Amino acid sequence: AADVTADLTEILFTRAQIDERIAEIAARIDADYADKNPLLIGVLNGAVMVMSDLSRALSIHCAMDWMAVSSYGMGTQSSGVVRILKDLSTDLEGRHVLVVEDIIDTGLTLTYLMQNLASRNPASLEIMTMFRKPDAMKAEIDVKYIGYDLPNQFVVGYGLDFAGRYRNLNDVGILAPHVYS
Ligand code: PRP
Ligand code: MN
Ligand code: MG
Repeated sequence: AADVTADLTEILFTRAQIDERIAEIAARIDADYADKNPLLIGVLNGAVMVMSDLSRALSIHCAMDWMAVSSYGMGTQSSGVVRILKDLSTDLEGRHVLVVEDIIDTGLTLTYLMQNLASRNPASLEIMTMFRKPDAMKAEIDVKYIGYDLPNQFVVGYGLDFAGRYRNLNDVGILAPHVYS
């Protein structure tokens, strides 16, 4: 049977390392948002895993909602054109909003999304991202909670996909070039 982990050239972060970092971030969010009943907004599809783990690591009350935006389509490069595929069902007026992302790559998706969400008058608006690629960023983004920085290579797992695949890997690693070249 095919083993998806065989398509990785290197594992960068194990599931255990991810869990450990999420626990640290959750403790900070517990303190920062005590009594604020934050609304966690997960950005589909990549943020499903981090939302699932982060929300259950919190001790405080929170609510969840989802937006679907896509900038990558089926390719390996960000197109820079962000499309809203599914909007929120929650009114953000007066809410303390925390956007939850799997990765900030170029930053183009969140640049668009943060402008869009800010216009809906939340009481506060912050970002938690599990990963960031500092060397790929084309836009300045103020991130309050960050998991780990990644090298500027094609990375998959824990929500990060290539053409819709590899999201279900527990670990995060570098995709072998033979898969996409
Ligand atoms: C990926 C990732 C982020 C975004 C980051 O989503 O999950 O949402 O790209 O890239 P950027 O910083 O260069 O904009 P994608 O558009 O691939 O959709 P997906 O979450 O469904 O995979
Ligand atoms: Mn995404
Ligand atoms: Mg993607």
